[in-house]
Amino acid sequence: MIRAELKRMAEEERQRQERLFCRIMVCAGTPCLSAGALPVLEALREAVAESRLDAGIEAVGTGCMGPCSRGPLVKVRIRGKETVYERVTPELARQILFSVVKGRRPPTVAALPPELPFFARQMKVVLANSGSINPERIEEYAASGGYSALSHALHEMTPEEVCREISTSGLRGRGGAGYPTGVKWNLARKAPGERKYVVANGDEGDPGAYMDRSVMESDPHRVLEGMALAGYAIGAEQGFIYVRGEYYLAGRRLEAAIRDAERKGLLGSRVLGSNFNFRIDIRTGAGAFVCGEETSLMASIMGKRGQPWHRPPYPAQRGLWGSPTLINNVETLAAVPVVIGRGADWFAGVGTARSKGTKVYALSGQVETTGLIEVPMGTTLREVVFEIGGGIPSGKQFKAAQTGGPSGGSIPAEHLDTPLDYESLEAIGTIMGSGGLIIMDETSCMPDVASFFLDFCRDESCGKCVPCRVGTIEMHRLLRRITSGTATMDDLYRLEELCDLVGATSLCGLGMTAPNPVVSTLRYFRAEYEAHIRERRCPAGACSIEPLPPGPEGPELLHAAGAPEEAD
Ligand SMILES: Cc1cc2nc3c(=O)[nH]c(=O)nc-3n(C[C@H](O)[C@H](O)[C@H](O)COP(=O)(O)O)c2cc1C
Ligand code: SF4
Ligand code: SF4
Ligand code: FES
Repeated sequence: MIRAELKRMAEEERQRQERLFCRIMVCAGTPCLSAGALPVLEALREAVAESRLDAGIEAVGTGCMGPCSRGPLVKVRIRGKETVYERVTPELARQILFSVVKGRRPPTVAALPPELPFFARQMKVVLANSGSINPERIEEYAASGGYSALSHALHEMTPEEVCREISTSGLRGRGGAGYPTGVKWNLARKAPGERKYVVANGDEGDPGAYMDRSVMESDPHRVLEGMALAGYAIGAEQGFIYVRGEYYLAGRRLEAAIRDAERKGLLGSRVLGSNFNFRIDIRTGAGAFVCGEETSLMASIMGKRGQPWHRPPYPAQRGLWGSPTLINNVETLAAVPVVIGRGADWFAGVGTARSKGTKVYALSGQVETTGLIEVPMGTTLREVVFEIGGGIPSGKQFKAAQTGGPSGGSIPAEHLDTPLDYESLEAIGTIMGSGGLIIMDETSCMPDVASFFLDFCRDESCGKCVPCRVGTIEMHRLLRRITSGTATMDDLYRLEELCDLVGATSLCGLGMTAPNPVVSTLRYFRAEYEAHIRERRCPAGACSIEPLPPGPEGPELLHAAGAPEEAD
């Protein structure tokens, strides 16, 4: 395919959609599918065929529309106006269609109000196509402007210019560390090597995170286009997407997308008629959190045991099979076509002084509407929880939000007005992480939350280095003593010492950051830890603590634990 053919494909699809009287989109993301979206889509397709209106109405499956907890979701577009329906059953879907056919307008039953802050307060850039295009049709991606950034770069920009544009945009890695993407691309571009590789990190092992899964499921070509742009910029001809094993649907859609892109000449040899060759293969992970860490990930791709190795040299210098390898997170790469397409200045105009663009979050936990959201960097936590998320259910109080999963920390109510950007989050003792945002209400016990994340790290520790392998076991044991009301204050001091030791001496990021949830909950909720120890009481009422034995033994136990002597 050459440039003109790409334009023609896009134009033909746009015109085809314009000719439709009505387009009904059924969310076919994993959460909606598990809530019953497939029978809804089938019912709609049958009803469209029966009503012999298939020329004027079409029903298609799309990626995630956002408010996953309200699924299955259906979006009806009539002459550009969209109405979204929640918790749609096959019966309701037929009613919607019937009403569209008879009344030539969408019904209001089960429709979400268009001004719902969940939609109105977001800014969809990376997720621009999610929930609107059929991810299994390359034509729809092209019609949304897809592959035009690649086409522009291949024909009008040098690799240096592409790298410069990425640097100017201020894009930073969305995989957790926030490393400047342009710096990394330049390193990989300048690194000597006959062969170079691009890797998209879609391992996403953090509990509570599913941003990358959703991007891969909803808009797979965007990831491929970002990878091809990266390949052109650094001089690589081969890319790998490392997809978490459990992400079956994402893997399947990516595979189909690669096949379609190759057939159309958008991947493979002489991409878009240029001299650039680029192939992409999928590698499936086997469910180890540590394989999301870049050196373990590369070991896994090379067929070795998924364990980290020491850096430097960094992957951009010496990575896969000893060659320079650019590793970026899926969301980072999905932002690249926007940076090149709309320009670095546009991208840099969104967000804060040092955190540019938008960020996708998986909003979960104790919040009215959970799901996938995208907001400009710098949006406050309060806006996300109380406006977009609709607040805390059942009249309960907000207690904390965990960002950064097992490597991050909690944000207490006093910091609800913190802007969500790299610097502000770091200043209050947590990290942006990859975008998992878990909201907790007053019934969450913070030592128990820390214990949950430590349990996860203990389980996922690859065992290569002692501080992490042994330290996480010991830290988890101490936390369990605290939550069961059997710890002493000495246990707490020992836990704090271990936080320092494990953080400072572990080999890779898993161990280095494993203490973070403990450190941050101790920073803001120390009194809760002490209540478990000194009073054998869980203030949140979440931990089951054996009552003290009656008689003199009780106060003695408390005293041994470190409770202050009562004044006479
Ligand atoms: C234990 C551990 C797990 C990680 N898991 C992921 C992951 O699932 N996805 C990801 O993109 N980065 C993950 N990272 C970060 C990667 O090592 C790497 O920094 C990232 O993929 C680089 O991409 P970026 O610059 O676009 O953020 C993980 C790091 C550690 C230490
Ligand atoms: S002693 Fe244990 S940790 Fe060490 S190599 Fe053998 S099995 Fe692994
Ligand atoms: S820090 Fe943990 S996960 Fe990382 S190498 Fe050491 S044992 Fe393995
Ligand atoms: S999967 Fe349907 S709204 Fe998220």
